[in-house]
Formats: sequence, C-alpha cells, structure tokens
Amino acid sequence: MSTPTPFQPDVFPIPDNLVQTLAQAEKVVVFTGAGVSAESGISTFRDGNTGLWTRYSAHDLATPAAFKANPSMVWGWYEWRRAGVLNAHPNPAHQAIARLQEHFRDFALITQNVDDLHERAGSIGVTHLHGRLERARCFACLHPFQHPDGIPDIPEGGCEMQPPRCSRCDGNVRPGVVWFGEALPQPDWEHAMDMADQCDVLFSVGTSSLVYPAAALPQRALAHGATVVQVNPLPTPLDGTATFNLHGPAGVVLPAVVAALQAARA
Ligand code: OAD
Repeated sequence: MSTPTPFQPDVFPIPDNLVQTLAQAEKVVVFTGAGVSAESGISTFRDGNTGLWTRYSAHDLATPAAFKANPSMVWGWYEWRRAGVLNAHPNPAHQAIARLQEHFRDFALITQNVDDLHERAGSIGVTHLHGRLERARCFACLHPFQHPDGIPDIPEGGCEMQPPRCSRCDGNVRPGVVWFGEALPQPDWEHAMDMADQCDVLFSVGTSSLVYPAAALPQRALAHGATVVQVNPLPTPLDGTATFNLHGPAGVVLPAVVAALQAARA
C-alpha cells in the first residue's frame, strides 16, 4: 500500500502547459489589485464584511465633490490608510512578482494599488493607474506635497484632520489617489494599454475585475491572443474568459509560479 502524500498547503499546482507558455514568453504583464496586498494586512475594497467600500462610503470619501464638501474627513481617512501601509510589509506575492520581473526581456507591472509594497519588495518601474498615497498634491494647483517623515497615529477609520496647505498657492493638499469620476494618469494608462496590446502573457492578480477602465486590460490582452492567467481565491467576471484560473491566495500561487518557471528554465 502506498503512503498518501501529505497535504502541503504552501504548494500550489501550476499546470504544465502554463509553465511551458511562460518559459517561451518574452513580453509579460502583471496587473494587480488590492488582493495582492491583502496578505500584508491591507484591506481590499469589496471583500465581504472587511472590504473598505462595505465599511465606508466611497461616495463620501472618494470623489472630488466629497473632498470639497468635507476636506478634513477625507484627508483624515486617507491618512489612516497611509499609516496602515507604512506599518505593513510586502508579502510573498509582492516578492514573487519582483522575482518574476527578472525572468523576462520585456516586463510591466501595472497596479491599481495606491500602496508602495511592490516597490518595497524590489519591483522597479511600477505603473500606478490609481495614484499613490505618498504622492499628495494641491487640490487647486497640483503642486506636489512632501509628507513629513514618520507614521501618523490615527484611530481606526480615520478622524477629522485639517489637510496641509499648499506651499505655492495655500490651497488644500489632497490625497495622491485617483477618485471616482477622475481620469487615470494619461501616460500611465497609455503604457498599460500598449503593454496589454502586445504582451504574450498577462497575469491578473487580486482584482475583482469590476472597475473600469483598468479592468479592460485583460480583455485587451485576450483580444490579440495573449494568455491571461487570473490569480484569485474567489470567482470574478474574468473567470469565463481567462485562459487559466488559479484559484488561491496570491501569496501561495505566485511563489509556486516562480518556482515552476525556475525549474523549467534550469
Ligand atoms: P477589490 O476589493 O474590488 O477586489 C479585490 C480582489 O482581491 C477580490 O476579487 C478578492 O477575491 C481578491 N483577493 C482577496 N484576497 C486575495 C489574496 N490573498 N490573493 C489574491 N486575491 C485576493 O479590489 P480592486 O479590484 O483592486 O480604486 O479594486 C479596484 C479599484 O476599486 C481600486 O483600485 C480602488 C477601488 O475603488 C481607487 O482607489 C480609484
């Protein structure tokens, strides 16, 4: 009688045909969403009871009109989120993506995340489609604002905090993120579309695939025949069209992808 193989929760099976495709790929895009930072303790937006948009109102916090109506509430909420990121660390998913970059001649990491955990894991040239918490700027004249060093101590959910004043025009400084109703940064979005239109493989990792225009990137890749690999423990609207659906946490699946690729190339 053979001994049963012990369950190894950290080993995720990667299909052979995906490994072969990756081993031959030259141009690769990794497109990430909030789920890639979930294992670092950063809340996603739409996960059950824990998602930010379940607990807080996007209407009151994530539009230009909301900032005009209540700048102190909006600034304090984003400062709470910025403190959470400063207290967090990159997880194995961020680290695996940084290692994946080393394997391809042409590689782009396109993220919807406003944290800097990809950069802190070693990724370079990250494209942030939805801005960055660290890139605050004047609401009126767009002049950049440098946050002071240190981690603000802010209660759960934020608190009213007067935004800093712009050193150039004395306007209110706003968080460095893209809000609902605002355009994506144009050069970043054009780069993302170009890469999606030309890549051999696109990974869509930890995103609900609900927020457009960013959610169109995997569809653009599929339209020209690229392989699209989705990494997500839960189903999304992309499940029906993705070439591969790897249903698991990114911090488990992506290290397994890197290990399989390294083994194939050895
Ligand atoms: P969502 O919160 O909409 O989706 C997060 C996804 O991550 C879900 O599909 C989860 O199942 C998945 N997930 C959770 N834990 C995971 C893990 N450990 N590994 C892999 N996946 C996991 O977040 P986004 O799709 O990023 O916009 O949201 C898109 C945009 O909506 C955000 O950028 C934000 C928000 O409003 C702006 O801030 C402008």
